[in-house]
Amino acid sequence: MLNSLISEYLMRTPHSAIAHRRAAAVLPGGETRSITYHAPYPLSIVKGRGAELTDVDGHIYVDLVNNYTSLIHGSMYAPATASAAQALADGGVFASPHRYQVDLADMLAERVPSIEQVRFTNSGTEASLLAARLARHVTGRKQLLVFDGGYHGSARLGSEHEIVTVPYNDLEAVQKALSEDIAAVFAEPFLGAGGVVPSAPGFLREVAELARSRGALFVLDEVQSLRNDVSGEQGRLGLQPDLTLMGKIIGGGMPLGAMGGARRLLEVTAANRPGSLPHSGTFNGHLTAVAAGATTLQHLDASAIERLNQWAESLQGAIAAAADEAGLPVTVTRAGSILQVHTAAITPTNAEHVREATSPLNSALHLALLLEGVYTTPRGMINLSTAFTADDLSSVVRAYTHAFRLLSYCV
Ligand SMILES: Cc1ncc(COP(=O)(O)O)c(C=O)c1O
Repeated sequence: MLNSLISEYLMRTPHSAIAHRRAAAVLPGGETRSITYHAPYPLSIVKGRGAELTDVDGHIYVDLVNNYTSLIHGSMYAPATASAAQALADGGVFASPHRYQVDLADMLAERVPSIEQVRFTNSGTEASLLAARLARHVTGRKQLLVFDGGYHGSARLGSEHEIVTVPYNDLEAVQKALSEDIAAVFAEPFLGAGGVVPSAPGFLREVAELARSRGALFVLDEVQSLRNDVSGEQGRLGLQPDLTLMGKIIGGGMPLGAMGGARRLLEVTAANRPGSLPHSGTFNGHLTAVAAGATTLQHLDASAIERLNQWAESLQGAIAAAADEAGLPVTVTRAGSILQVHTAAITPTNAEHVREATSPLNSALHLALLLEGVYTTPRGMINLSTAFTADDLSSVVRAYTHAFRLLSYCV
């Protein structure tokens, strides 16, 4: 089945093949972002508008990737683009603080009660690294507790003996591992890259309390999840993290990350404070990104989020029903407007369950959907933007229905 899908893909996308060969001459593997690669080669996308992408062969796709959850309003969101253009016209970036940075920081502090101050970076990865440094600096401890399947960016937060890993949703394991050497617990409100696995009710509140009782910081990584509620998932889950990591949507489509949190912690990075923890970066808080980000968040109010989450719930039900009709073992997990289609009948509560359930059907489903005009991630994560319409929903459900029928012939 996979071979025949690949043959069809090769026939349908000759110009993507040429683009891939050209790219591979100068970019290792023809890409510059490992996660975006899939066999036989990724599509070469030339244009994005709203929830629609066009590839170099002229095929049109419904976008369910949205640059891995960062394009909350879809591609080329006109108000955000206009704000970025205005920021460029103003000079783009200066070695001096700017009102646009303060505007976005204000907005984040207003939306998220645990955030009093903000420090900007260029990516979620850099925000994680900064939080790790800050936690070590203020506690004088070296180790960090993280969850198996948790993703905090593409850089390691410490050496092997500095990182203690426990299964997600396992409070007993957290209790055992939370020694006096742990500077901080890093957690996502749900495992994102680890398979869109929700946290069990009350789990993260207990983790936060445990961390504090043992003198460690509780760092909540909302790089993906901030989109799910006006105050992020922490609002929905009743959490008050010491530090919050942000990225993706806060840059309005441009590269931006941020660490926010309690004033007493953030002020440790203030350059006018004796013995402060220095934090620099040539492009920190680039004006195009903070301006586009502020406009993006302005247009992401409670009702827009509610609509997105409802679309996602409908899509979750429709995909599950289509799989059921085809007799395929499929589970669709969801957190707000982010979903994961698992090609197995499971109720995953940790990353091990997701790994065990990963089947070769995954790649086949991904290619089958691309051939049906639906752009998804190779691992099965999909997410919605506010540009998504009722027509898009119908097309996507039709595509999954066809793809599942096709796949059902080979299981
Ligand atoms: C939860 C989480 N944290 C951190 C990151 C890293 O962000 P960036 O890719 O901007 O470095 C990601 C990226 O996918 C993420 O999902």
